[in-house]
Amino acid sequence: MSTQADSTLSNVDLAAEITAVPHHLGIIMDGNGRWAQARGMPRLAGHRAGVDNIRRILEHCVQRGVKVLTIYAFSTENWQRPPDEVSGLMRLLGLTIQRQLNDLDRNGVRILHSGRMEGINKHLQKQIVNALEVTKHNDRIILNVAFNYGGRAEILDAVRHIIQDGTAPELLTEEMLSSYLYTGGLPDPDLIVRTGGEWRLSNFLIWQAAYAEYYTTPTYWPDFDEVELDKAFVEFSRRERRFGRVLNK
Ligand code: FPP
Repeated sequence: MSTQADSTLSNVDLAAEITAVPHHLGIIMDGNGRWAQARGMPRLAGHRAGVDNIRRILEHCVQRGVKVLTIYAFSTENWQRPPDEVSGLMRLLGLTIQRQLNDLDRNGVRILHSGRMEGINKHLQKQIVNALEVTKHNDRIILNVAFNYGGRAEILDAVRHIIQDGTAPELLTEEMLSSYLYTGGLPDPDLIVRTGGEWRLSNFLIWQAAYAEYYTTPTYWPDFDEVELDKAFVEFSRRERRFGRVLNK
């Protein structure tokens, strides 16, 4: 069995190998359901454990110098889950805002939301808007919550707004389209981490992640701890990011 001392030691060992940390980290928090099922618990218990884990990973991101953390909390496709799971996830976001907002604010966390507001109930919408307002001056780290988010819906919404604004087609640039996305103003993600073992983006930041590094681990999200995140950062440090160019050796 690993002890606290072991895990601290391995953390220190890993830290020496971290030579680069993503400025913007995106996480696909997968495996909550399987984590719960493996323990004979309902899926929602897995989501609750998943929420607790966000705090632990957020704090470690601050320690390591990550400036933007985007978490995939509810996708536009997640509406197709059983109704009690959907309403449970909605309730969980409301409860989390209610319980954590003051503390996150005191710790300098700025909260942003990426996703469609339509479809989210009015009370939760107000809680989200309030969380953005309360934390808008914080700059220690941005926690960008992708909720009711879909990458294709995001591009579609951006194009609709661009057309509504009467933009001439020849004036449209990649930078302009980026600025119309829900993430407008944020830098593109440098690293996308997916827990739970799958190797796909699942409609997450599909425009923004064009040049992001990708890392996946079989570990379920509630078990993905500081050491696991450091392993992802070690792997990120080893990657050579060329952005389509040939680098001179
Ligand atoms: C996937 O696990 C996880 C999600 C549906 C999103 C992650 C949600 C949370 C961490 C909790 C909600 C977050 C907030 C901020 C309210 P899964 O259910 O697909 O797991 P499985 O693949 O094992 O079934």
